[in-house]
Amino acid sequence: MKIFRSSFPEGFVFGAATAAYQIEGSKFGGAGSCHWDTFAATPGNVLRAEDGARACDHYNRWQEDLDLVRAGGFDAYRFSTSWARVIPEGRGAPNQEALDFYDRLVDGMLERGLKPYHTLYHWDLPSTLADLGGWVNADSPKWFGDYAEVISGLIGDRVASTATINEPWCVAWLSHFLGHHAPGLRDIRAASRAMHHILLAHAEAMERLRGLGLGNLGIVLNFTPAEPAGDTPADLAATARQDAIANRWFIEAIAKGAYPDEALEGMAPHLPQGWQDDLGRISAPIDWLGVNYYTRGLIQQGEGPWPQISDVEGQRAKTQMGWEIYPEGLAGLLQRLSREFVGDLPLYITENGMAWNDRIENGACFDPERVNYIDSHLAAALAALDGGANLKGFFYWSLLDNFEWAFGYERRFGLIHVDFDTFARTPKASYQGLRLALSK
Ligand code: FCB
Repeated sequence: MKIFRSSFPEGFVFGAATAAYQIEGSKFGGAGSCHWDTFAATPGNVLRAEDGARACDHYNRWQEDLDLVRAGGFDAYRFSTSWARVIPEGRGAPNQEALDFYDRLVDGMLERGLKPYHTLYHWDLPSTLADLGGWVNADSPKWFGDYAEVISGLIGDRVASTATINEPWCVAWLSHFLGHHAPGLRDIRAASRAMHHILLAHAEAMERLRGLGLGNLGIVLNFTPAEPAGDTPADLAATARQDAIANRWFIEAIAKGAYPDEALEGMAPHLPQGWQDDLGRISAPIDWLGVNYYTRGLIQQGEGPWPQISDVEGQRAKTQMGWEIYPEGLAGLLQRLSREFVGDLPLYITENGMAWNDRIENGACFDPERVNYIDSHLAAALAALDGGANLKGFFYWSLLDNFEWAFGYERRFGLIHVDFDTFARTPKASYQGLRLALSK
């Protein structure tokens, strides 16, 4: 690596990130069924029909995993708690085994000198609530608030920060309009309602956690800077629509209490009645913003009904996901967020990383592509700092190869290779490189 810890301001936080469903193993410890279990059990939804039943077996190997975070020289560990594990029926009685597990997990981080960065919801919606329409149901924010109080009531005073929702665009749009993630809907009305309810769920959890006296609360949004593939007015307008739906909807609601016109033009007829009255709660102050960044989008005018957006393949080198490697997008994004939306609110890069077809050869995993990816994105983070963004930390996605949602275990994002037959963990060259860079 060419960039070191000492290039960053004092106190800059370096961490690694994971999410409950992707690593824990949903069949262990009395967890309830979640909508990813049933989505994965439906033919055609997940590559090779894989699921998170065993995942990385982290439920049983968490101590080894936390040891690896510490040995990697990280300051912090970003993890999520599973709603379906904590409250198997979605509402009502918590699962004591789950509470004990997360209690020990957080203590395990503290014992190792790691700052716990907690995410309340990283997509494991209990199936009983999915039965009731999940995020399309107007009661979902309240259900979420109840869960948030249970788990944050237990661990909230020991974590360094809490994020309400991971990537609401994926929760709402990718899952209810594009149909790629659970529950796999393709419906503008369901999607529009989920786009609003997920923000209300954020607001509800913020209020409940503030009520418990907890601080350092935020949300994690994903951004994919939209660039026009051509310069026709139609392409520019399609790019503006894409930007409004994917990048502006959530941050504009939170920072300014408004939804962008270019998104409302298609969604307004489908939003729940009285949605305007909720924006005051949704825009209550947050303490920090998490930014997940992987790539950019190249957009042109599409066909069919609104929003008429179509993606164009970019010409840059791509990762195993087929995503262009585009580090300059990160610097521009962080500066745009500061300039247009959040001013000097603390920003964290809560996810950034790449998938590659990593293999173990002679007991080792050599992944120079990932080393370059990290280096170039850390350079972009430095450029953003230079440009005035109040950036406070960087979390690599992911600590471990894991269940990459609709792509199963094929797409490997980890700093640590996982053999999904034996569950052996093998730190990759990128883990070693980053460890060295963090020591300098
Ligand atoms: C993000 C998700 C994370 C992982 C990465 C690759 O959208 O938050 O769980 O799947 O992408």
